[in-house]
Amino acid sequence: MDYFKIARDIKEKIDIVDIVSFYVKDLKKRGKNYIALCPFHSEKTPSFTVSREKQIFYCFGCNNGGDVISFVSKIENISKIQALKKLASMAGIFIDNIKLEEENPYEKERKLIKQINMEAALIYNSMLKSSEAKKAIEFLKEKGIKEQSILNFMLGYAPSYENFLYNSLSKKYPKDILIKTSLFSTSFGKLTDVFRDRIIIPIRNISGDIVGFGARTVGNENPKYLNTQENQIFIKRRNLFGLFNSLTQIRKERKAIIVEGYFDVILMHQYLFTITLSTMGTAFSQEHAHILKNYVDEIILMFDSDKAGINAAIKAADISIEEGLYPKVIVLEEGIDPDELLITKGPDAMLNLINNALDIISFKINLIKKKNTELSPDKKNKAVEFICDTIAKERNEVIRMEWIKNVSKEFSVDESIIKKIVLQKTKSKNISIQKNQITLIKPEISIIEENLIEMLFKNPSLAEILKNGFEISYLESEFSKKIVSFFIGLKDTLNLEEKLISQYPDYENEILRLILKSQNINDETVTPENFKKTLLIIEKNYLEKEIKKIKEKNISSLEELKKYNELILKLKNINLSI
Ligand code: CTP
Ligand code: MN
Repeated sequence: MDYFKIARDIKEKIDIVDIVSFYVKDLKKRGKNYIALCPFHSEKTPSFTVSREKQIFYCFGCNNGGDVISFVSKIENISKIQALKKLASMAGIFIDNIKLEEENPYEKERKLIKQINMEAALIYNSMLKSSEAKKAIEFLKEKGIKEQSILNFMLGYAPSYENFLYNSLSKKYPKDILIKTSLFSTSFGKLTDVFRDRIIIPIRNISGDIVGFGARTVGNENPKYLNTQENQIFIKRRNLFGLFNSLTQIRKERKAIIVEGYFDVILMHQYLFTITLSTMGTAFSQEHAHILKNYVDEIILMFDSDKAGINAAIKAADISIEEGLYPKVIVLEEGIDPDELLITKGPDAMLNLINNALDIISFKINLIKKKNTELSPDKKNKAVEFICDTIAKERNEVIRMEWIKNVSKEFSVDESIIKKIVLQKTKSKNISIQKNQITLIKPEISIIEENLIEMLFKNPSLAEILKNGFEISYLESEFSKKIVSFFIGLKDTLNLEEKLISQYPDYENEILRLILKSQNINDETVTPENFKKTLLIIEKNYLEKEIKKIKEKNISSLEELKKYNELILKLKNINLSI
């Protein structure tokens, strides 16, 4: 029995409207659908929609959506498998517990990628003992990294030849799955290793699975770091380097330290600051804060003291506050990273810094006071605004009041005035996200591409037309590219929505939004003719964009001129047929 079969059986026996109304008060019929105030974010007018016909829900306010299984999983905060089991038992469907987790083909694929990553990490790790790794070992020594840290973080070395890893793994795994790990690049059907002559830093998710890698040059090549390209299991805004190693301790201490680099994390752990983690070269995200909120109340942001570092710290602090965390900031001496500080000044100096971390408001106040001894009224106004931006994000009344008092004292401005400014900012921001809730990211997509996808949902057989010369590269958004490719490869339309969502779980909400929207388009407009016209418009937009690109940088070779003429000709033909 597989996941889809059980899901289908559940949906035959249970109506999503009944399940939702069990959790959500005042579900009201509106046209074909039901609407209510969204249980996933706070709002005053209902944007939460349930479709009986499609057996799905979607919130136009926070972009949460899914089928009855996702609904139960989200509202009860349990996994999809657990929700499936719960609903199955309600529906009187027997399921074989042991097999279930492996039956979803996409889940199976994700597991396999993790398994290959783990094997790769072990292979890379064993290479540290080889003679080729001499320079790498020297580098690690110079950084002050001990044997135990190499073990704890499973560090490794990728030798310089181009198919070292490929040769080790290709006997055991087929090419198509190896490609999906992002460990290899393809050119003309040949696979070569992405990481060469680099120190390998495995990145583990919260369960300890290896989801991707960071890789640092041993010499001075550029770029200094390469990371695994994002794929179905490696999503930078959702993973934190060091989280797995920190988990026990951050739970205990209810706080975490965020640093900027991989080696900063590794050395902090080596010196027993085992609550340290970092992002992977990207900014600290709302999702990062949301994940940490499960384990900690306070986060200490340790950033460089240059302008970029300070701005990053302030941004990260604001995001943390919105997720209900209490942020503190440490700025380091310019140009000295935590790893260097530990080596040159020792762990006591670090401990001293941590103990003296300032909460974000005191930090902002200091920042201004350091720059100006005397504040003109105009500067004072700007300073107060700057600080109140952060206070307005805090929803805890006690913390808010304490901060307001501080600012009032520091700048000798009446408390009531500060309060008023904060209140204004709170209102204008209209913080609608409830504590512990998250607004999901919506991909950018143009109206025309949205129309195309809606038509495909309405009538999947239109996908046949895509096979006559339409190219995926004509599409602008990554999201549309994925969805349209999916339709091109579709063999039958059974469980279409589930298949699509299982393949792109990240886009679940956007997919559901478009499915719901597609319900409202008039059947008569979804004709092959209109579909073809839509494709032509998309191609036309693409051609115009390409032509503009070439024009802008001037035609410099015969080849470019040829391409330019070709594009112009194509565009002319299209203009004739629209
Ligand atoms: N980073 C990245 N890709 C890059 C540069 C940086 O992913 N091309 C990430 C890495 O996680 C890196 C962090 O950003 O650890 C900080 O970068 P940087 O300050 O440039 O490097 P350090 O960590 O100081 O590098 P090292 O100590 O190894 O010299
Ligand atoms: Mn560094």
